[in-house]
This record gives sequence, C-alpha cells and structure tokens, in this order.
Amino acid sequence: MNVEVLSVPTEKPRRDSYDLVVVVDTLRASTVIVKALHNGAMAVYPVGTISEAEEVKSVLPLAILAGERKSFKIKGFDLGNSPLEFTEENVKGKNVVLTTSNGTKAVKKFQGYGTTVSMAFSNVKSVASYSKEFQNILVVCSGSHGELALEDLYTAGVFVNQLEMPALNDGGLIARTLSSEDPIKVFKTAHHGRYLSEKGMAEDLVESCIERDVVPILKRDPMGLEFFTSFHLFRG
Ligand code: MLT
Repeated sequence: MNVEVLSVPTEKPRRDSYDLVVVVDTLRASTVIVKALHNGAMAVYPVGTISEAEEVKSVLPLAILAGERKSFKIKGFDLGNSPLEFTEENVKGKNVVLTTSNGTKAVKKFQGYGTTVSMAFSNVKSVASYSKEFQNILVVCSGSHGELALEDLYTAGVFVNQLEMPALNDGGLIARTLSSEDPIKVFKTAHHGRYLSEKGMAEDLVESCIERDVVPILKRDPMGLEFFTSFHLFRG
C-alpha cells in the first residue's frame, strides 16, 4: 500500500489518479460532515462558495444551508460550522449544503483524483479500516488558507499509523511522528485551535475528539451534484 500525504492542498500529487482520496479538515469541516451523517443527515453537499450553496439548496428537497467564513456562521444560513450545532434535531432527514473556508474547497479540488472520503480525528479509525483494501491512497490535509494546519497533519499521522506497513512519502513520515500525541493537546496547541478558543468556540475542540463510526463517501446525484453520504448506509 502506498500512502502519499499532502500537508497542504497546494502541494502537487505524484499521480493523476488514486484508488482512494482522503480529505482531512479536522477543525472543523470534516468533523461536521461526520457528525451530520452520524446524526441522520441524508447527505452533505460540499460546495465552494456562498452563491453556489444557495443555488444547490434551491434544487434540493429538505435542504438546509451550513458553513462559515472566518469560522462564524454565514448570514442567512441555518447552521454555522460548529459540530455542536449538528444535532439530530437539526439535521436528521435533511440535505445539508456546506461551504467552508478550506475544507469543502479541498474536496472540490481533489475529488477528480479518485473515490473520495472525508476524514476527521473523530472517524480516523473507521477510515483506516475502510482503506485497507486500497493500494494507492492520497491524503490531502486541507490546511488553513494555504498554510499547514497541525491538527490535519496529526490526523493524517494517526491514520497512517493504523495501516499495515504503508509505503509513505516524506509528508506521511512526518505526519506519523505526531501520531502518539494527545488529540486535545494538539488541538489546543494548533493555530486554528487557538483561534477557535479565542473566539469562544473551545468546546468544539473537545467535541472533535468524540469517535464516530462513519465513513463519508462522495457520490454524485442524478443532477450531477456531489454529496457525502455515509458508507455504512450502503453496506446494508
Ligand atoms: C475550514 O474549512 O476552514 C474550517 O472548517 C474552518 C472552521 O473552523 O470553521
């Protein structure tokens, strides 16, 4: 198994296609996608811009708008990007249209490289066990506005550490050195974790540590729109 870790989405992948693309945005887009599906959302549609989100919402039944800019809820949206908001009451049976500053953009950028899943610290074990059947895996850390995000590289490290003898690029080797750290300590140290705490969202860091057995896999609907749905729903 070959695993290539991109520490930021601006790094160039070695190959044109992979068996599996794992997009990581630990704080907080991937955590939100995992929690929404865990709490019964029908699907999560990742989109790049606010106007795209509004367009997608207008063609979907039972759709709600979620997302952030500078980590705060977007004006007129139903939910922000705090995992605490993605309760059963708020998302069950709904199509969630999500736009975030980095995480959903990384999904849009790399979805063409292969079957795409979303990974946070909360579902790293499930994604690692799902990944075992794949040969060539690309892990994309979403980072923050072009900069490396410690919490994403850490999650990538915890992931590769659970795989059996993967051949790693240097990004993967560096990531693996972080994997023995305590998640909450990493989140509190990371730049974005500190930013969220300063802005009164420290509870999100704790919420991001809660494990959930969900593998959000990207599919395309009959209208050509991409959405994450829980892999387990398809396992029957
Ligand atoms: C992102 O996509 O950049 C993040 O999820 C930002 C955030 O914490 O809301």
